[in-house]
Amino acid sequence: AALRDVDAPAPERHRVPDRHAAVPPSAPGAFTNTPDTDPAVREHRAWVRDVLARVPGSTLGAAGADAARVDDAGVLDALVRDARRAGEAWGARPAAERAAVLDRAADALEAHRGALLEVMAAEAGKTVDQGDPEVSEAVDFAHWYAELARGLDRVDGATFVPAALTLVTPPWNFPVAIPAGSTLAALAAGSAVLLKPAGPAERCGAVLAEALWDAGVPRDVLRLVQVDEDALGRALVAHPAVDRVVLTGAYETAELFRSFRPDLPLLAETSGKNAIVVTPSADLDLAVRDVVASAFGHAGQKCSAASLVVLVGSVATSRRFRSQLLDAVSSLAVGLPQDARTQVGPLIEPAAGKLLTGLTTLEPGQAWALAPRRLDDAGRLWSPGVVTGVARGSRTHRTEYFGPVLGVMTAATLDEAIDLVNDVDYGLTSGLHSLDPAEIGTWLARVQAGNLYVNRGTTGAIVRRQPFGGWKRSAVGPGTKAGGPSYLAGLGSWASAPAAA
Ligand code: SER
Repeated sequence: AALRDVDAPAPERHRVPDRHAAVPPSAPGAFTNTPDTDPAVREHRAWVRDVLARVPGSTLGAAGADAARVDDAGVLDALVRDARRAGEAWGARPAAERAAVLDRAADALEAHRGALLEVMAAEAGKTVDQGDPEVSEAVDFAHWYAELARGLDRVDGATFVPAALTLVTPPWNFPVAIPAGSTLAALAAGSAVLLKPAGPAERCGAVLAEALWDAGVPRDVLRLVQVDEDALGRALVAHPAVDRVVLTGAYETAELFRSFRPDLPLLAETSGKNAIVVTPSADLDLAVRDVVASAFGHAGQKCSAASLVVLVGSVATSRRFRSQLLDAVSSLAVGLPQDARTQVGPLIEPAAGKLLTGLTTLEPGQAWALAPRRLDDAGRLWSPGVVTGVARGSRTHRTEYFGPVLGVMTAATLDEAIDLVNDVDYGLTSGLHSLDPAEIGTWLARVQAGNLYVNRGTTGAIVRRQPFGGWKRSAVGPGTKAGGPSYLAGLGSWASAPAAA
């Protein structure tokens, strides 16, 4: 319904230029990641301009896409029980049938690329360069989980038993890729899904659900739900008919969910405090590029963001590195997502709490190399900040601010740098810039994080190639990685098959 509210017919408004033309065909049966919109292609640029022109005043998803807005405990209970029944029927269908629906979902998500970019920009402040890879990732998740679903029916000696009902509670910062990935995985694994989009990204969830319903996901198998009161949210999470909860959010939210129901089968991707280590052997130009993109993409509002850079040995005193880094950061264009020049968009909500502290106060020994400046009245637009003199154990070292502040630490040796990186509660992503194989080996062996990236930024894991998930307080539950080979296995259970006669 939401998509049909717009003036022009949906297919024309959201037609996507063919992006596969330039990609060489892969071997039959090989998995191919979906290409992003390419700013080097003139048709793609024109198409992006059309998308951006629609962002101000966009109403996509505003009608709520048939979301059940639950304000009563009895209604909630009936909704959960209906969804569970639908899940039992869905899980009884052959996995190959579910996989075929997911392949159609991939096409539908691609067809909705423009609508998804529009609503991500309008609602969540996402620039196209940040939102576009989310759509590609969602398409990849659909194809990849379809492939894994086909495999579920082919395991010898064991039978996969789907969960009947999965509650998916995604975050607002990846308002398409993460709800799409969690939902598609659960559907592939034979479960019905109650999708509760994050409050600040409800419209993104609505457009996403429209795309999946268009593809043939039955409406009773995927339901959008919004709850108005904390007490009902708690009742939803704790409902005994919910078999699995897939949460992406803060570690504290995972703890809260566990407090609602101690035996809750929870798969949670949680917080991060991630660093990139730069050694004297690194290509410093590449290091600057990756640190800047990892720290300030989507204004630093990513669990995977690098909010620390650890400079080893002579890099710490390199004038060249310092001036290149600060030039690159201070030249970032901060603005609204509908402006094609914007490189750092707005915060989802005005800076408050620990983020405001991180943007405005220094700890002893710290100095601003670039002090963040508030650029609007509301407090959503901030120029990126770089703080030096970050000491081990300080707030800047160990707190996830989730915003545009980069802390600079120094270490005499790579070993000392690794100790600093590991001395945080989380272990999600970690980066190293080094051209020395021995250093790379040492770092890979010692660093405590789920996703390790050498000579690359720390954000934007690619489905299947870089399964995503962390250690320590960055994960709660079985720790299976999104986009990896065993993700579906964590969404159901296995029964031994009777021995063959
Ligand atoms: N998967 C995202 C990334 O890699 C984070 O959720 O940046």
